[in-house]
Formats: sequence, structure tokens, C-alpha cells
Amino acid sequence: MSTVWENEDARWSEEPERLVSADHTEDDIEIDRSLRPSSLVEYLGQTRVKENLGVLIEAARGRNESLDHILLSGPPGLGKTTLAGVIAAELGVQLKNTSGPAIERAGDLAAILTNLDERNVLFIDEIHRLNRAVEEILYPAMEDYALDIIIGKGPAARSLRVDLPRFTLVGATTRTGLVTGPLRDRFGMAFRLDYYSADELTDIVNRSAGILSVGIDERGATEISRRSRGTPRLANRLLKRVRDYAQVRHEGFITKDIADEALAFFEVDHVGLDTMDLAILDTLVHKFSGRPVGLNTLAAAVGEESDTLEDVYEPYLLQLGFLARTPKGRQATPRAYEHLGADLPQSGAGQGQSGLF
Ligand SMILES: Nc1ncnc2c1ncn2[C@@H]1O[C@H](COP(=O)(O)OP(=O)(O)OP(=O)(O)O)[C@@H](O)[C@H]1O
Ligand SMILES: [Mg+2]
Repeated sequence: MSTVWENEDARWSEEPERLVSADHTEDDIEIDRSLRPSSLVEYLGQTRVKENLGVLIEAARGRNESLDHILLSGPPGLGKTTLAGVIAAELGVQLKNTSGPAIERAGDLAAILTNLDERNVLFIDEIHRLNRAVEEILYPAMEDYALDIIIGKGPAARSLRVDLPRFTLVGATTRTGLVTGPLRDRFGMAFRLDYYSADELTDIVNRSAGILSVGIDERGATEISRRSRGTPRLANRLLKRVRDYAQVRHEGFITKDIADEALAFFEVDHVGLDTMDLAILDTLVHKFSGRPVGLNTLAAAVGEESDTLEDVYEPYLLQLGFLARTPKGRQATPRAYEHLGADLPQSGAGQGQSGLF
């Protein structure tokens, strides 16, 4: 089974080291493990999702039944994997982890499913990356808790139905649009995780500082959370970097001034943009003079994968209102010009008809 169960370390070690990117880095493996909440009470923010889940979990427990299948979506680092663990812990059942790309053949999934026990939570990360043959095994498994196996070939072939334990599938995706309709329909509930508010992130920073025994005051925590792009993974990562900086350059205690100084040192600006975000905006504003730019062209210009641009960088720039997706391509907004301290282009200077200016 070792080829099927996800090897977290192997996957994470491939990631390039970037401070702000919401992707996993090697550092995160350790941070994630020590700081990951394991109950709904410790899982901060996402109030609506938690309330809904709390009711569903209590009802399932009360009836001694398995929980409905749940689809979690949202940008990287917002707590999808964490929430899957919390769900299993709250249900008091075992969690089995795998991911879309790790399940290569239908047989791999069949093996996983037949190894589940009653009411187990099966977590499939990046569920939009399951291949078709594998996905089709999942349909009857989710719907009827059954596995259809074809035995033999040609006229002698017959189908055998194997019963599965009543399990709960928790699927996670950063790209809801790529989850096929039939798969989406088989989830009882779908929750979208949104970026966290600065207050929620401050709570997360304080909680993490407590676990890591880092001294920090309220304004220090606020400063880190303000620059964390609404993302708990980044809040924890920035906290850890600022802690290191505070320890080496100061006495170890984190104040607002020390957080400011450290984050400037690590090139995270006051709204949480790093050098890649700024390169994206700078490219749109200067290199393409404010004209709309296609995703692939933009990706090539900044030397990043289009997928990464779309999954990791764009959502936050869109959220800040620095970037617009127009029918003709990506464009920097007047807010982005202001942030860069650049002059707005003269009207008619290649702005197209997007109406942004
Ligand atoms: N609600 C929360 N409260 C406290 N900490 C959180 C919360 N959500 C996430 N975290 C912290 O952020 C880290 C990253 O979360 P997680 O790995 O669950 O994100 P993810 O959505 O699965 O990301 P990806 O899409 O990259 O897989 C966790 O290890 C945890 O420490
Ligand atoms: Mg995850």
C-alpha cells in the first residue's frame, strides 16, 4: 500500500522555498504537525462552516451513523486538510489519507476502499486530479457503499458487487471548477473555505505563539496577521520567521516594531505581498503598459507556472482588488498602481475597453 498512501515528506520536499507562497515548504511539515488543530474548538475562524459541521457531526454521532460525504474547497493553506482531521477526530473515527494524483489505477482505489472500517473518514486531497477510471469506481462507493468488480473477459465476464463499510469521504480541492459534475453531486455537503479576517488570524498567531512558547504582544500579532494574506499557513510561517529574527537580532520578544523590521527583511510588504506578487503587478503595469495580458504570457514573463499563478498568487491579488480578470486578460487595477506608486496610464494608452480606468 505504500505507493498509494501519500508520502507527505516526498511531496513537500519538491516545493521551492518561498516565504509568502501558500504552497507547502519543508518547514511547513514540522510547523503544520505541531500547530494543526485537532478539534472544532481549536479550529479558529470559518464560523459558518464550523457551525454547520458541528450539527452534522453531532447528528451522525447521535444516530451512530456515518457522516455524509463532504467536499471542502478553497485556496491553499486555509485549513482543508486540517478540517478533514478535525472531522475524523470529532467523530471519534480513524482518518485515512490519500490524494488524487496518488491513486493511479482503479485497483489502487479498490484496495483503499476495501481496507476501510465502518464509519472511517477517507480523505482524498486534490480530488479534482483523480483520473476518470478511478473516479468511476468512486461513484457506486459513495452512493451505495459498493464496489463493482468485473471478473473474466469477453462473454464469460461477469460483474460482482462487493459491499463496502459505510465510510465518509472528505474530498479537498483548490479548484472546484475542475471537480466533475457527477462527482460533485455525490457529496452530501460542500463547504467553501474563505480567507480569514485579520482578527481570526490574530487569534491563530496567538494560539501558535502559545504552542511554540514565543513571546509576542497584541500589536506584534496583529502586524503578522495583517501580512498573512488571510491564510493560516502563512500566518504560522511568518510567525516562525519573525521569531527567528527576533531571537537573533533582538531579545526574542515580538513587538510590532520588531515584526515590521523582520517582515521588511524577509521582503513581505505591509499588505503581505512578496517579490513574486510585486513582479506580477510590475509586469502588468510597466512591461505591458497596463494592457490586458493572457495568463500564459504573464506566467512566462514572471517565470512562474500558470497553474501556480492562478492558484496561489491571483486569488489574493483579486481579493485585494489589485488585479482584474477581464475577457481580454489580466489587468492591474488603479489600486495596484497606487500600491506600486506608479502613475496611471493616460486614457487610451492601451487600456482596452475593460472600463477599469
Ligand atoms: N482554522 C484554523 N485554525 C488554526 N490553524 C489553522 C486553521 N486552518 C489551518 N490552520 C493552520 O494552517 C496550516 C495549513 O492548513 P492546511 O494544511 O489544513 O491547509 P490546506 O487548505 O489543506 O492547504 P492545501 O490546499 O495547500 O493542501 C495547518 O497546519 C494549521 O496549522
Ligand atoms: Mg491540504
